[in-house]
Amino acid sequence: MTYAVELDDVSVNYGELEALKNINLKVAEGAFLGIIGPNGGGKTTLLKVILGLIEPQKGRVKVMGYPLNEVVDQIGYVPQISNFDRSFPISVLDVVLMARLGGRVRFFHQYQKEDIEKAEAVLDQLNLLNLKDRQIGKLSGGQLQRVLIARGLAVEPEILLLDEPTANVDASSTSQIYELLKELNKDKTIIVVTHDLAAVSSYFDSLACLNEKLYHHGDKHLDQETTEQVFGCPVDLIAHGHPHHVFAPHGEEENND
Ligand SMILES: Nc1ncnc2c1ncn2[C@@H]1O[C@H](COP(=O)(O)OP(=O)(O)OP(=O)(O)O)[C@@H](O)[C@H]1O
Ligand SMILES: [Mg+2]
Repeated sequence: MTYAVELDDVSVNYGELEALKNINLKVAEGAFLGIIGPNGGGKTTLLKVILGLIEPQKGRVKVMGYPLNEVVDQIGYVPQISNFDRSFPISVLDVVLMARLGGRVRFFHQYQKEDIEKAEAVLDQLNLLNLKDRQIGKLSGGQLQRVLIARGLAVEPEILLLDEPTANVDASSTSQIYELLKELNKDKTIIVVTHDLAAVSSYFDSLACLNEKLYHHGDKHLDQETTEQVFGCPVDLIAHGHPHHVFAPHGEEENND
């Protein structure tokens, strides 16, 4: 079986700090996977490993069955908004068009007509076409988030990786974004990472928990014990969010020991 993404015993260190430890992850084609974990748990690092932006010290990464260097164009990436510099004075359309250049970023590049048509089509798909000439510094958080999703889609990827796609948006934009992702999931594999358990919704078809190690990967029912291992303090998270449907009722969770 070919997996969309396959990590085999992957470890990443930043100097002394061990950010990812012996990660094994198989993501089926067509999956809608949510990866949750606390701040600093290694979620962004994991996405960068899948993108080939960080080379792990140990382990192997395959995308669509191939080693990374052969497949980069099949992945769309929606970066964590807080890591995105929005002071740069460019328009919404430019941001999306830049994705079409891939690694071949050049100033004063002449875009092909096809690039512009594709960029406008994804903006239209995300109801953003009326904002295409707006400077990115003048967008709301939710609008910018959708622009970044449009940029991720502009490469026409088979796999879409999203880093905290709802961290800065209100509840109604959050459900809009998840509705959109569900739609996109009809023909793409989607992986979302988030620290926000409340954002974890019934949309996902499987969940993984990441805090340096991967603790759970499978169906979307998390038990109390797993969240305690991953977050340290599950009670707080349950009280603040409303993810009740995500948790198996106490005492009914499957015992996998
Ligand atoms: N370039 C880097 N150099 C050194 N340490 C780093 C670097 N990037 C991340 N780290 C550290 O690695 C760990 C994992 O970071 P990462 O950004 O992957 O976490 P995260 O789960 O995405 O967190 P958040 O929820 O805050 O976005 C953290 O302790 C972080 O400080
Ligand atoms: Mg992060």
